[in-house]
Amino acid sequence: MPLIAILPGDGIGPEVTAEARRVLDALDLGLSFEEAPVGGAAYFSAGHPLPPATLDLAKRADAILFGAVGDPRCDALERHLRPEQAILGLRKELGLFANLRPAKLFPGLEDASALRPEVAGAIDMVIVRELNGDVYFGEKGMRTTASGRREGYDIMSYDEDEVARIAKVGFETARVRKGKLCSVDKANVLETSQLWRDVVIEISAQYPDIALTHMYVDNAAMQLVRNPGQFDVIVTGNLFGDILSDQASMCAGSIGMLPSASLDGSGKGLFEPIHGSAPDIAGQGKANPCATILSAAMLLRYSLGMDAAADRVESAVTAALTGGARTADLGGTLSTAAMGDAVVKALG
Ligand code: NAI
Ligand code: MG
Repeated sequence: MPLIAILPGDGIGPEVTAEARRVLDALDLGLSFEEAPVGGAAYFSAGHPLPPATLDLAKRADAILFGAVGDPRCDALERHLRPEQAILGLRKELGLFANLRPAKLFPGLEDASALRPEVAGAIDMVIVRELNGDVYFGEKGMRTTASGRREGYDIMSYDEDEVARIAKVGFETARVRKGKLCSVDKANVLETSQLWRDVVIEISAQYPDIALTHMYVDNAAMQLVRNPGQFDVIVTGNLFGDILSDQASMCAGSIGMLPSASLDGSGKGLFEPIHGSAPDIAGQGKANPCATILSAAMLLRYSLGMDAAADRVESAVTAALTGGARTADLGGTLSTAAMGDAVVKALG
């Protein structure tokens, strides 16, 4: 019986994971669940955002459903005790190097997008972001120069194995979609990007069926707004992927609609909505649970190989929206639980 770790976190995390759990329960797939605190909730109950028992559960589980962390009451704590360290720690400890962020516009949500409806309607893409390397994990520090000025530095680097393994995820993702992969870099300026491009081209020899293109990141940012429909799969590094995936998400409507998967290459993964803990609406039953419900669908698909069940969940979200179910972020009045109800009902 597959074990699913549920890590609700703080803020709206517990509210949205509760609805995703109800959807998984309603599918009756014979899954077992174990829950543990993480982020602010864990800091207040156990003194650490990622307590050993939570990390142990995450390691034992076949897959992890994560809510969100970022309790503002922890803002003044030292960096290693801040809630956000929990998600960074899980990514690193579990070797979750591949972050998949699908961005597509659900039917009827054209008005929610920041783009014109006819442009937004064409979005149906996946950004594959490298998650364990790049400038985020390079040597960093603060120093004082000889002339007495303060200087901050963060080293950007990738080795060829790191690029090769994420490139393969990009090609494999494109293979089960429309067969188009766009590798995004800044090879005109950065050595890291030159290696990235060289390695992606080398790996492409194993994927003659995939149409590979390259784009500089600044142009990619522009193209995402100008004509997002041109993209099928984008593969890129940690920093560029962080920025471009947030941008793509907004093109597709509400942040409350977008799921993500962080994978280790063996099938194990952590699945979470792309949004944070939304302290401004926490505890009010206003959060849209769809991003977390869709993350649960990704969990079924990527970690458990239950594609039919994943399809059912995604169809139920579409059906609920088509039937007019809307939380406040989508211009409606439904509570978090009522939106969950609508999805459960649409499962049939
Ligand atoms: P946020 O994503 O929490 O909220 C941004 C805006 O979107 C807010 O107005 C919020 O009300 C709204 N929003 C977010 N999710 C929503 C949902 N499901 N339904 C309806 N509206 C929603 O980003 P923010 O405010 O920058 O960060 C809040 C905290 O979350 C910070 O401490 C941040 O570090 C943390 N964070 C955690 C992440 C994670 O757990 N992986 C990811 C991003 C931020
Ligand atoms: Mg981000």
